[in-house]
Amino acid sequence: MTHSLTIRRPDDWHLHLRDGAMLKGVLPESARHFARAIIMPNLVPPVVTGAQAAAYRDRILSALPEGMRFEPLMTLYLTEGTDPDDVAAAHASGLVKAVKLYPAGATTNSHGGVRDLAKVTAVLERMAEIGLPLCVHGEVTTHEVDIFDREAVFIDTVLDPLRRRIPGLRVVMEHITTEEGVAYARSGGDTLGATITTHHLIINRNHILVGGIKPHYYCLPVAKREKHRLALRQAATSGEARFFLGTDSAPHVDALKEHSCGCAGCFTATNTMQLLAHVFEAEGALDRLEAFTSLNGPRFYRLPPNEGTITLTRGAPAVWPEKILTEAGPVTVFDPGFPVHWHVEA
Ligand code: DOR
Ligand code: ZN
Repeated sequence: MTHSLTIRRPDDWHLHLRDGAMLKGVLPESARHFARAIIMPNLVPPVVTGAQAAAYRDRILSALPEGMRFEPLMTLYLTEGTDPDDVAAAHASGLVKAVKLYPAGATTNSHGGVRDLAKVTAVLERMAEIGLPLCVHGEVTTHEVDIFDREAVFIDTVLDPLRRRIPGLRVVMEHITTEEGVAYARSGGDTLGATITTHHLIINRNHILVGGIKPHYYCLPVAKREKHRLALRQAATSGEARFFLGTDSAPHVDALKEHSCGCAGCFTATNTMQLLAHVFEAEGALDRLEAFTSLNGPRFYRLPPNEGTITLTRGAPAVWPEKILTEAGPVTVFDPGFPVHWHVEA
């Protein structure tokens, strides 16, 4: 049995850091293990322009505690008013690494997102020209479509037609949750990547609903049935270059999770690496953990992998705080519901 594993320092290719007191409270949780992260732009108001992304980046760096290192990789929130020249300039300066497509109404703070993709064609064509990736929240928002089918329907009715219209566009399917998502990601060439979250490797929809409703397991896209979780585990642990870690760690204070209309999001920044070591060990794939967390993402984003390393060790049951006490309020850390024996060496 492996007791220690040293891998290149990981990155998180999909992270919510929020702003203000929440940002200050949760940033150290990511910076402790991760060198870089793709920072989601769904603030209120959203990060739409290059100037807003530059200001947000400065706020993130000012919130970083002394002695910690972390590089925020900024994204822009795509709207029907997004200016292609502003996007191109923000990319050329090195500030912005991706643009995020939220179908309007799909998730937290997505009401300013895109209703009619035809209205963003000029931006997407420009992105294809300059090689700037589009990160996609892949769910339709039509009321008639069942929430558990929204990803598969999005692939067929939105994503595939879009990729055929603009074949050069580089796309990241964010937080895939279904076997259809895995299969579609595999069917694409070099222009297609997919992130997988920590929690979707661990929970299925029963975890949310059986034996009482568990608000801290509710996220979007919502966890699906067991066969989908198994497809995600197979994909993540396969070593295939198109699959990489995007935790979608999404802090909400407990008061808004444990609520009659609870917010979507699992907070996994604190324990993702420990949980992934557990998952990869269970799948007999510890030797492929580094590909998933530290190599495949930089390759897709055309960035060098990190020079530093982290060491994971196997030992006594791991402990982490049940909650992160931010100045905005407590945030519950994702509980896998089983003991985890992996630790990240300080
Ligand atoms: O669960 C989620 N939480 N899914 C998302 O797409 C957004 C995120 C958030 O911002 O809270
Ligand atoms: Zn997200």
